[in-house]
Amino acid sequence: MAILKVARLGHPVLRTPSEAVAKEVITSKKMQQFIDDMIETMHEYDGVGLAAPQVHVNQQIAVIEVKENQRYPKEAPVPLTVLINPRILRKSETFVDDWEGCLSIPDLRGLVPRVQTLELEAYNRKAEKIKISAAGFFARVIQHECDHLLGNVYVDRMRDLKTLSFLQEFMRYLY
Ligand code: NI
Repeated sequence: MAILKVARLGHPVLRTPSEAVAKEVITSKKMQQFIDDMIETMHEYDGVGLAAPQVHVNQQIAVIEVKENQRYPKEAPVPLTVLINPRILRKSETFVDDWEGCLSIPDLRGLVPRVQTLELEAYNRKAEKIKISAAGFFARVIQHECDHLLGNVYVDRMRDLKTLSFLQEFMRYLY
């Protein structure tokens, strides 16, 4: 296991659309090791999700897990989920505004509109096709990570950049 270096905003890898992973490769030792490293990196930096471009790899892989998290103390837990080649199949029409941060944009929070519920298809780390119905914060994290795989970050989705805040000021005035 290894903790990977996280790319920060401005690095072109974050703006490059990621390539799909060949199904046969998913169960390879190298890919399994990489997924483990992504999970370890997400845990190390208290992330609730991490996409491969954030660790300088433009492949369609994301990991998500919401445990008790000091960066997001109010959010409901989500079990460890590995998404490979995720495709959003259906989105609700209702948008909800909530706060997001990103390990590639350290120490900032912004208010981002996201659809409330969605259905998603992906491979898991065993190369099995999975379907997920997600709502609320889980749906939000999925949209955030899928955006990374397209070369987008949450700031691109903000309706009003005036809500952008440093974490310390966010906790003090906005939370
Ligand atoms: Ni992010």
